[in-house]
Amino acid sequence: MAAMGEVTLVTGGAGYVGSHIVTELARSGRLPVVLDNFANSSSNVLPRLRKITGQAVPCVEGDVRDRAAVSRALADYGVQSVVHCAGLKAVAEGETQPLRYYDDNVGGAIALAEAMAKTGVKTLVFSSSAAVYGQPASNPVTEDAQLKPVNVYGRTKRDVEHVFRGIVERDATWRVALLRYFNPAGAHRSGEIGEAPAGMPNNLVPILAMAARGQRDGVDVYGDDWPTTDGTGVRDYIHVMDLAEGHVAALAHLAQAAGVSTLNLGSGRGYSVLEVIAAFERACGCRIARRVTHRRQGDVAMCFADPRRANSTLDWRAQRDLDAICVDAWRWATNPANA
Ligand code: UD1
Repeated sequence: MAAMGEVTLVTGGAGYVGSHIVTELARSGRLPVVLDNFANSSSNVLPRLRKITGQAVPCVEGDVRDRAAVSRALADYGVQSVVHCAGLKAVAEGETQPLRYYDDNVGGAIALAEAMAKTGVKTLVFSSSAAVYGQPASNPVTEDAQLKPVNVYGRTKRDVEHVFRGIVERDATWRVALLRYFNPAGAHRSGEIGEAPAGMPNNLVPILAMAARGQRDGVDVYGDDWPTTDGTGVRDYIHVMDLAEGHVAALAHLAQAAGVSTLNLGSGRGYSVLEVIAAFERACGCRIARRVTHRRQGDVAMCFADPRRANSTLDWRAQRDLDAICVDAWRWATNPANA
């Protein structure tokens, strides 16, 4: 199957990760179509995607759980593959609203799979998460590690992986890549698109950007008594454009390989909260106040990827380092057009 001109539906395509994937799909010669319900995203991103990609990016406003709407979108646009990013991702919110998370994330994936089966679209890349591992027994974590998610969000991702594996067991003509993201951060280098959560951000890098702009009083460090080198949590931050490139590579791989591929998308390096703060200070050229507070519920000490399977299977690796992540996140945060 030639990639050129292939129509790919990106669910959640107006969101943070999805919008960056759209730019890379277009750059690789594919025709991305966005499906989004704008629950945690804005239609403002659409003209920006057009500007970046130099092509019209069609958008269907709709919910992935709406089987009829999804089937219609798949048929109307002649979709050949789907990148499924739509879903809820705030870990703390998942703990207080578990049914909403199961409905949106697991129910959404089931509805999407049904619509795909009905319209004969059988190529899917799923946005899974390192949250499926919980606290890995050892780091770096490989794809064969036990799945022991410690929060509802991680459980929904694990369950969706099971749903798609079950589908492939019944019908070996499906082609599915389950991509376990580590910690996506950074922004498109144009400064036109980036992470713009509705409400307060939960993730470290956007919080640092707010603190650096004086929009909040520094950053709370969630514990300095973890079993890590400096006592703060260690994560594998992956530039969102590296992540986006990983999706394009995964689609190219699926054109050659039926069945399920489960792949970590991470850099393979862990950084502590204090190291991330230092990198962000280098990027913004200012000092960020920090205050050590108690541990956040549902957090783990350390989680970073063994990305070798993705490196070899997809001929892909993360190219951009933590400094590039912070520089790009800062450019996005300070773009006057976003004010
Ligand atoms: C969590 C999920 C991850 C998911 C992501 C999506 C787990 C274990 N991880 O990532 O899979 O993709 O949410 O949103 O479920 N921190 C602070 N102060 C802050 C914010 C964060 O110290 O104000 C620390 C955290 O304790 C952690 C690190 O910074 O050590 C990164 O936190 P965050 O950006 O929220 O990501 P995760 O919790 O790792």
